[in-house]
Amino acid sequence: MFEKITNAPPDPILGLADSFNADPRDCKINLGIGIYMDETGNTPILNTVKKAEQHLLDHEKTKNYLGIDGLKKFAACTQDLLFGRAHPILMDKRARTAQTPGGTGALRIAADFVTKKAGVKRVWLSRPTWPNHNQIFSSVGLQIVDYDYYDAEHHRLNFTAMLNSLEKIQPGDLVLFHGCCHNPTGIDPTKEQWEVLAEFIKKKGGLPIFDFAYQGFGRGLEEDAEGLRIFSQKHAEFMVCSSYSKNFGLYNERVGACTIVAGDDKTAEAALSQLKTIIRATYSNPPAHGGAIVETILIDDILRNDWEKELTDMRQRIQRMRQLFVQTLKEKGANQDFSFIIDQKGMFSFSGLKTEQVLRLREKFGVYAVNSGRVNVAAMTLNNMVPLCEAIAAVI
Ligand code: LMR
Repeated sequence: MFEKITNAPPDPILGLADSFNADPRDCKINLGIGIYMDETGNTPILNTVKKAEQHLLDHEKTKNYLGIDGLKKFAACTQDLLFGRAHPILMDKRARTAQTPGGTGALRIAADFVTKKAGVKRVWLSRPTWPNHNQIFSSVGLQIVDYDYYDAEHHRLNFTAMLNSLEKIQPGDLVLFHGCCHNPTGIDPTKEQWEVLAEFIKKKGGLPIFDFAYQGFGRGLEEDAEGLRIFSQKHAEFMVCSSYSKNFGLYNERVGACTIVAGDDKTAEAALSQLKTIIRATYSNPPAHGGAIVETILIDDILRNDWEKELTDMRQRIQRMRQLFVQTLKEKGANQDFSFIIDQKGMFSFSGLKTEQVLRLREKFGVYAVNSGRVNVAAMTLNNMVPLCEAIAAVI
């Protein structure tokens, strides 16, 4: 049976990491996969994570299974981060959170849940979006529809076109938003635009779902939750798939969360019970270690404070690299205006490089970016900036 199976195409992001690792050139630069690097080009383990791990090593008494929905305090801390402490949704017990293997795990069980338990048939995704969204939602049989998002000519959000496409939403359609730091464009709606969107989706009867993987990487922990919190004032029901890969640097621990918000406590509890049947049939219960690290940090005032400082340092370094990238491109003679990159948010920049330029960068200079022109600004350093910008100037 298996001899009929042909090769699947490599993953557009993770496949790139494999090609990068196989590239023997010393000068190679990896701007593909979204991981944070420090000024020395390493992806560090945060000090607060190390401290939490030491605490766990000293105090952990069992490796028994977690419950299907994971750690209880982890769930409470996640809700505090999403909505802010003592938010009415939390006071009214309208939210339930399951700890999941990464943000991808959260999205997959959310997709399964809305399809099997809530009768959702279609999902709206921004064009462009993170390529894995398409795979996740089509894997559960949902029809995928795109909504306009990006104005490539002016490097900004095309809000009018976005609303025009969302006009075609049918009641009960799932509509996915990137909570902050839109991947791949780095362009988020403004506060006013979030207000309009929240009202608009409510009027159309759509079910909002937030992919919230970069909280703290855009403007700050609270600021980055702006859109989500605006929706939470206007919508009785929605879902949030959040990730701790980036903001705690816990990439390979696979730690994320799937949060369901419902109209009341009883409905939320019933929804969680159904979500748990999906989890049980998918991975049974989540791995403990990453969730325990996050919980240990978030429940301890000192660790939490120190973590926020580490997160701020990461965010500020990325912002400095944005500035330096634009300035160095200019110095190296790149004959285009790249200043729009300074205002983009999060790890990524949609550079405007065309696929053939990206391929030439890879082949000639060992600079790896996603074919769409997305570059990971968080992988730029003082050391690689000059060769990187020289290579870009050469291909454009
Ligand atoms: C990315 O977009 O590079 C990250 O979210 C990593 C991934 O899993 O694709």
